[in-house]
Amino acid sequence: MSGLATIPKTAPFAEEEIDLLNRVVGPANALQRAWLAGFLAGVESVTGQAQPAAPARPAEPISIVYASESGNCEKLAGDLAKAARKNGLKPTLIDMADLDLAQLGAAKRLVFIAATWGEGEPPARAVRAYGELMGEGAPRLDGVEFGVLALGDTAYAEFCAIGRRIDERLAALGGKRVVERADCDLDFAAPAAAWIGDALKVLTPPDADRGRVIEVDFGKPAAPPNTDIVEAEISERVNLNSSRSNKETIHLALAFDGTAPAYEPGDSLDLYAENDPAYVDELLKFAGLAGDDKLRAELIKTRDVTTLSLKTVETYVAQTGHQYVKALLADGQAKDWIAGRQLIDLIANFPIALTADHLRALTRPLAPRAYSIASSRREVGDEAHLLISAVRYETHGRARKGVASNYVAERLKRGGRVRVKLKPNKHFGLPAADKDIIMVGPGTGVAPFRAFVQERRATAAKGRNWLFFGDRQFTHDFLYQLDWQEALKDGALTRMDVAFSRDTPEKVYVQNKLWDTRRDLIEWLDGGAHFYVCGDAKAMAKDVRATLVRAYAGVKALSPEAAEQAVANLERDKRYLQDTY
Ligand SMILES: Cc1cc2nc3c(=O)[nH]c(=O)nc-3n(C[C@H](O)[C@H](O)[C@H](O)COP(=O)(O)OP(=O)(O)OC[C@H]3O[C@@H](n4cnc5c(N)ncnc54)[C@H](O)[C@@H]3O)c2cc1C
Ligand SMILES: Cc1cc2nc3c(=O)[nH]c(=O)nc-3n(C[C@H](O)[C@H](O)[C@H](O)COP(=O)(O)O)c2cc1C
Repeated sequence: MSGLATIPKTAPFAEEEIDLLNRVVGPANALQRAWLAGFLAGVESVTGQAQPAAPARPAEPISIVYASESGNCEKLAGDLAKAARKNGLKPTLIDMADLDLAQLGAAKRLVFIAATWGEGEPPARAVRAYGELMGEGAPRLDGVEFGVLALGDTAYAEFCAIGRRIDERLAALGGKRVVERADCDLDFAAPAAAWIGDALKVLTPPDADRGRVIEVDFGKPAAPPNTDIVEAEISERVNLNSSRSNKETIHLALAFDGTAPAYEPGDSLDLYAENDPAYVDELLKFAGLAGDDKLRAELIKTRDVTTLSLKTVETYVAQTGHQYVKALLADGQAKDWIAGRQLIDLIANFPIALTADHLRALTRPLAPRAYSIASSRREVGDEAHLLISAVRYETHGRARKGVASNYVAERLKRGGRVRVKLKPNKHFGLPAADKDIIMVGPGTGVAPFRAFVQERRATAAKGRNWLFFGDRQFTHDFLYQLDWQEALKDGALTRMDVAFSRDTPEKVYVQNKLWDTRRDLIEWLDGGAHFYVCGDAKAMAKDVRATLVRAYAGVKALSPEAAEQAVANLERDKRYLQDTY
């Protein structure tokens, strides 16, 4: 009987609203349905919009596609959908991971909100659809009105490259660009909100029924977790590398004042760091502003004083008119010059009298850094654990230190306080308790898998858990070694394979271990296991994927194309999940 009351997908509501209504109307009994019908009729007669009305004009559709990895574009796409609905449009939200390209050709209005990852690459989940969009099989989009919002980071040479390429491609396919693209930096909140407002002005037809859709506040999903910035105390701080390692990887336990943010295994925390005072002092000295204590405090706490982008160089020229820097830009050499350099190099190499306001204009707000949560609340209560590797290197004759990782490694002490914000990642969660999982996490990539293993132990999950870990040396770099030994003993880990690259003359990485164990691996995957990869995006994640393709080809005697398809199927089924950086 309840099936009769199912609201069809063609109803003039957004998809989520139809779901919500179905959850209430679907199981309603005859009395409840009669009451609702009477209630709605009453509302209509009071507002004077009652029959014999022509059926309500269906809301005009708008398709919103997001290409997101760490959730920023996804969140903005949600904001846009909400605002579109208020404007009387009917939004369809599409994760580019699930995009069927035919949907685009059928769209009337189209917005893409796209992030750039790697070195100018699409977010991992969007790789397939992005390739198809750029490929020969992409549908014509003649007459489709579109706009693109691009998110990125000016610190990267390929700033907002994916948004830019999608924008160009939609136009090349015949789409009608009705709103100019905006390229947003890490402080995207205000410009993105302004773009959304402007885009909707253009994309909303003049006769749309603004305000027609009433917010439904029954049957709402559970309240989202607290993603405000909160303070926590450092209750534990341990370097997990031995004193003879040339790496330093800090295990940080954060104790929250009250309840910990409601994080799930797979989520991250954004950590708000401060700059190295020694670096800021040197910068101020080169800028001729060494005595300005107010500026010093501001730079340490709130400004990004290390990033050097093309935009910084342009600002330097605009602010100071420096002839040599101007020439660098004019000759097209600036892009090469800034590679591996920081703001301090610009000021030290091309000194000129600067004011405090010049320095403010040359720096953007200091952005937080994300760290995978390495604990499960079920095991650690109101704490959250992080695993942070100190970034240190040398370029152009100067020793460099990553801002946040060295704030943690060099200046945060036990008992100190830190500001963090929960960054949920619903695309990297655990599957049902009876499913097997395979986790590939070399280096700090192992952090979320400590959370996974703790969670599975605490919930007595029946699925098997297999971990691949790697680092440089067994003796000096075996992160969380005792935890894994214990987990193997108590059964929370079913199996662990390790690769220490510098213990043998020939380097061994996790991908070699995947290859060695390929028969078991494919057997687990055939049995429905979920495959997780976390850590380095540049080489490791790509090698791991390529190894899995080879494993399918070898074990199942598949052609390279069929093996590639087998891995693509895992991705499509959301059984191959990545969180890489
Ligand atoms: C979702 C997510 C989860 C993450 N989880 C973790 C985690 O669990 N643990 C962890 O340690 N990190 C993690 N990271 C990375 C982390 O967010 C920071 O990027 C990292 O700690 C560096 O930040 P920093 O402020 O210390 O360095 P920054 O000041 O941001 O400097 C880093 C920059 O320095 C440059 N650089 C670095 N090495 C070299 C080199 N050898 N040569 C030339 N240039 C170089 C690069 O431009 C690099 O972007 C994660 C990132 C994301 C996006
Ligand atoms: C590892 C890494 C690589 C990135 N590469 C680029 C890049 O090449 N170009 C760019 O403009 N932004 C780059 N970014 C910045 C992201 O695009 C930016 O953080 C964006 O807001 C992420 O959006 P999302 O959360 O929707 O994925 C990179 C960020 C990370 C963490």
